Amino acid sequence: MTNTVPMIDLARARSSDTEFDAVARQIDEANQHVGFLAVVNHGVPQKLLDDMYDVTAEFFDLPMVERLSVLGSRHTSRGYIPPKQRALARTRGIETPADLVELFSIGLPEVPDDPWFRRAQDLGYFAANQWPEHPTRFREIWEAYYREMSALAFELMQLFAVALGLEKNWFDDKVDRPISNLFANHYPPLTAVPEPGQIRVGEHTDYGSLTLLYQSDAVGGLEVLLDDVWCPIEPIAGSFVVNIGDLMARWTNDRWISTLHRVQNPAISGPASRRISFPFFCQPNYDAVIETLPTCRQPGGTSRYSTITAGMNVSGKTDVSFDI
Ligand code: OGA
Ligand code: NI
Repeated sequence: MTNTVPMIDLARARSSDTEFDAVARQIDEANQHVGFLAVVNHGVPQKLLDDMYDVTAEFFDLPMVERLSVLGSRHTSRGYIPPKQRALARTRGIETPADLVELFSIGLPEVPDDPWFRRAQDLGYFAANQWPEHPTRFREIWEAYYREMSALAFELMQLFAVALGLEKNWFDDKVDRPISNLFANHYPPLTAVPEPGQIRVGEHTDYGSLTLLYQSDAVGGLEVLLDDVWCPIEPIAGSFVVNIGDLMARWTNDRWISTLHRVQNPAISGPASRRISFPFFCQPNYDAVIETLPTCRQPGGTSRYSTITAGMNVSGKTDVSFDI
């Protein structure tokens, strides 16, 4: 792998309080300058990662009519979205042809039956997931994977808190009922020459607090813009790529950066050029109030951003990418 992305060893962070603080300092440094990390020794079972890849590949190999049985809507991020429906560069005001990707996504697997969640559902959060009939173990594996990602994100937010000079538990009650989404991005092998400006995913920043991305190591393509140069992020087997989203940049008053990235077309063609990645887009609780963190205010106590809720942040960003 190139050294584009700093490596974070979670086993080290878990080994003692002193090591936790040392890893938090590495994270602060990386998030200020790169906005992307590679997380290793995270403890998510390799078997689950392999199962996730296998059932998802099998789903995308089903005939289109079966995939369409779980067709999703752009508003809920639940279900299947066929190829070429979205152009993420539009979120940056750049007109491009549609991205060469198809998607499947879910939200929180089991929504508790209590007044807080019922109110959230009335407001449009925590919509029901859609499950394909095949492969048979698809739901079980996706739900298990979602839970692993939630736990990992919660732990990373504790490291983030210390990295930002806050108490370890500072974010806990703001991210304990999150509206995070798990996606699979499927990039089929190229069957035609792309249109000018058409790539697998156009340049964009992610919207939320952080993204945890697992990518198959078959073919790369993920690139980040650093000092005006597109730098590839080579897949490291078994690692997660973690990046900061717009909400975290806002929360930290731009101490941390939400870095532009994209997925470039493969240099090869044929079956080996297929790529599947799993971004888990973390969002805080929909009603978490996002205002500059106490440790990130400018001299004089001012902020660059107005106060919003996490729910307002995400709903303001999603729609424009589908207007193609
Ligand atoms: C995304 C994204 C990268 C990838 O979905 O926001 O940046 O490798 N995906 O699929
Ligand atoms: Ni992204």
